[in-house]
Amino acid sequence: MLQYDIVVVGAGGAGMSAALAASRDRHLRVAMLSKVYPTRSHTGAAQGGINAAMGFRDPTDSVEKHFRDTVKGSDFLADQDAVEFFTAGMPDIIRELDYYGVPFSRDEHGRVAQRPFGGASSPRTCYSADKTGHVILHTLFEQCLKNGVEFFEDWMLLSVVVSDGKLDGIVALDIRTGEIHPILARAVVIATGGFGRIYWTRTTNAFNMTGDGTAVCFEAGIPLKDPEFVQFHPTGLARTGILVSEACRGEGGYLLNKHGERFMARYAPEKMELGPRDLVSRAIETEIREGRGFGEGLQAHVLLDLRHLGREKILERLPQVRDLALTFEGVDVIEKPVGIRPSAHYTMGGIHVQDYRTCATPVEGVHAAGECSCISVHGANRLGGNSLAEVVFFGKYAGLGAQETARHRDFGNEKRVVAEAQRWARVFETMRKKTTGHNLFQIRDRMAETMWYNVGIFRTEKDMVKALHTLDELWEMYQDAYIGDSSVRYNQAFVHYVEVGNLLKLAKAVTLGAIARKESRGSHAREDYPHRNDGEFLKHTLVYKEGDRYRLDYLPVRITKYPPEERKY
Ligand code: FUM
Repeated sequence: MLQYDIVVVGAGGAGMSAALAASRDRHLRVAMLSKVYPTRSHTGAAQGGINAAMGFRDPTDSVEKHFRDTVKGSDFLADQDAVEFFTAGMPDIIRELDYYGVPFSRDEHGRVAQRPFGGASSPRTCYSADKTGHVILHTLFEQCLKNGVEFFEDWMLLSVVVSDGKLDGIVALDIRTGEIHPILARAVVIATGGFGRIYWTRTTNAFNMTGDGTAVCFEAGIPLKDPEFVQFHPTGLARTGILVSEACRGEGGYLLNKHGERFMARYAPEKMELGPRDLVSRAIETEIREGRGFGEGLQAHVLLDLRHLGREKILERLPQVRDLALTFEGVDVIEKPVGIRPSAHYTMGGIHVQDYRTCATPVEGVHAAGECSCISVHGANRLGGNSLAEVVFFGKYAGLGAQETARHRDFGNEKRVVAEAQRWARVFETMRKKTTGHNLFQIRDRMAETMWYNVGIFRTEKDMVKALHTLDELWEMYQDAYIGDSSVRYNQAFVHYVEVGNLLKLAKAVTLGAIARKESRGSHAREDYPHRNDGEFLKHTLVYKEGDRYRLDYLPVRITKYPPEERKY
């Protein structure tokens, strides 16, 4: 039976940072599980950069400004002690990454280059052209290999086994062999990324962003915090939703409607295209709704114009954006504006972390970091460039926290972990042999359509209640789903079956949290409650799953320095 001191699940930026920090203690055996080859994790798709108040481009920038911008961006829902800890530690993280060999772009003095990003009062986003996540991920992978982290790629997390509020171990599927393994661990770090795929048809997220770790922790009794807050990135490619980096606007790109107007003047006269994402996404959708966009239905869009930046700058700073627009829209942004529309990008909510210094969850032995978690530093709306920052920063603290946990904790109840693995083996067997039932892809597509149209950028009680009924119906259908693949090895249909189950649970938590929050805050825009209501809702949502029952509770927001005020840009 596999047995490790620490198991990190997920090989994106948070998982890699956690494994790297944990593996510095050479007495501890550290393993990492990843559903894909580690460097294919979704952090590789993060384009524009990573925020830290280095003050290289703007000497007046400061940690204090980064702290304030993040709190304001969050619409005052972030826990301010956690934000202060995070923003104060980021400059050291950039120095560490630089030292490990991340090939950052450089300014004329050879220092790490920084660019403006949305909602930031100074240009503080450090970058490597528009491939920042990709280069950070590869560099961290090298460091983990050097430190002797043991990698299990093509392994999928199925369960976190908990008894009496303590971790026993985990269960995972080896996708290559079809074997289901119980794994004992003194501590685990869950770092499996977000669940943007609840909006399957319109998201910047990779296919594998199905919230597995979040759903598994939810099922194990750990609440989800603030799941209703889903970020829609303003610039997804019109046809596919693929990310076109905010760096385009950071470098000076314009957003235009069908009349050729830079419409952001109406919505954020000071910041224009560099308003925060929630505001810019709503502005684009409003232009489309009011007939000033192009096209119809899901294909409706406005334009992102980069032509005035010039060929040289585009090729130097935005080469990937140019490639993506060419490949997926057939548009060369050097010569023509490209169609864009908001696309589900990031889940602010996630596994409830109760101690931001160790990333510990309420279950002893379970830590969580990155997009799967909610610490909460982003509150109701994350600033662009704070995600790569979060994954590297809190990944490291989760790894250190797990190290501490592993040093004083024994292994849990082996029998329970084995029993859970056997239960999963029976599920796999049944699903492989089943030849009739509901089509899994239809269930998934209906879920995505329901979420996009009813629990999307603009929300109302009526639409969301409709969505809830549909999700319940889909959950019933899922109980009798059919996957159509009897293979044991590489049964991707079974993997997808588990993923869709995870997405359905998370979609329901998002919807319940959103119905109950009768106000508009950050990314959660209620047309029936258009104003922020601090009197009743300056609090975090907690959603618990107790068997088939979902229960809501609330938690106060920690405000240390910046009292809530109206958010203007
Ligand atoms: O637009 C972007 O490059 C994405 C960055 C982020 O989500 O932080």
